[in-house]
Amino acid sequence: RPRVLSGIQPTADSFHLGNYLGALRQWVALQESHEAFYCVVDLHAITVEHDPKELAQRTRVAAAQLLGLGLDPQRCTLFVQSHVPEHARLSWVLECITGFGEAGRMTQFKDKSARHGADRATVGLFTYPVLQAADILLYQADQVPVGEDQRQHLELTRNLAQRFNHRFGATFQVPEPYIPQATAKIFDLQDPTAKMSKSASSPSGIVELLDPPKTSAKKIRSAVTDNEREIRYDPETKPGIANLLTINAAMTDRKVSEVEAEYEGRGYGDLKKDLGEIVAAFAEPFAERVRGYLADPAELDRVLAHGATRAREVSGATLAAVHERIGFLPPA
Ligand code: TYM
Repeated sequence: RPRVLSGIQPTADSFHLGNYLGALRQWVALQESHEAFYCVVDLHAITVEHDPKELAQRTRVAAAQLLGLGLDPQRCTLFVQSHVPEHARLSWVLECITGFGEAGRMTQFKDKSARHGADRATVGLFTYPVLQAADILLYQADQVPVGEDQRQHLELTRNLAQRFNHRFGATFQVPEPYIPQATAKIFDLQDPTAKMSKSASSPSGIVELLDPPKTSAKKIRSAVTDNEREIRYDPETKPGIANLLTINAAMTDRKVSEVEAEYEGRGYGDLKKDLGEIVAAFAEPFAERVRGYLADPAELDRVLAHGATRAREVSGATLAAVHERIGFLPPA
């Protein structure tokens, strides 16, 4: 079976619709056809200022949400990045074959460091994409299910894999991005030309999966649209409506053209109201399942410990090969 690996940061109290449609839905589907490794990337979460009191709980809530969305620990390996020390160790080696300028060209770094102020941007934020490359390459992943915003990081990952293989001998599988076009980028409800983002969107622009359905319905009702009346998929001139159509189609497993046809001759209010209901029908049982997993933290921790053990078997073998190829003296 081909392998997939992906990760998500525990940087908010809830995942949002962009995370779900852009990536997590694919994670759930791929565990059926692939050998799947999924991690909650807490090492990445400390690259910007964070509250230590919140991080551990957010990591648990992240894992509970992944289970609530349908990840099955019998079918995939679910783990917390910091439980697997191989990630930080491979990251160091990869940093030593990454150009300073190459890392400096990462647009997410440029955006985030601009947002946090150049003086407060850390070296960890700078090397973030290299750690991400380590996450992927340790598992010899063939494919990496992510949203469009991760494409450049995957390109870096491929370059590092090829460079290492070329200099030190074939070691890493060179991974491909897995980015289904229809939902590759979900937009902010308040600014439908920007991606929905935990760090950049205003709260009213984000549909949080764990929000009460009423809150989400209200946000969707207030979504920015345009001054026309026609419900038509045209991302260039009608980005708000296009985004709502995209979300509706994805949540109901239909083509956008089918949703367009459903709303022919109808108003924006109908589209928004229905989408609020579609999201509620998904969110209510989801929140219930997440509460269930969180009610038994000891069991949740056992699932994650089991995942870390399996992850270490695979990543340990890759790291050992890497150390040998670069000439580290094996420990006696
Ligand atoms: P993160 O935690 O920001 O987001 C998790 C996943 O959600 C996707 N995503 C979106 N997709 C579509 N539309 C949106 N508006 C949207 N917002 C977020 C992201 O593309 C991502 O797939 N660097 C990664 C985490 C990471 C990782 C990895 C991913 C660390 N190591 C290894 C893959 C493989 C990140 O910050 O994702």
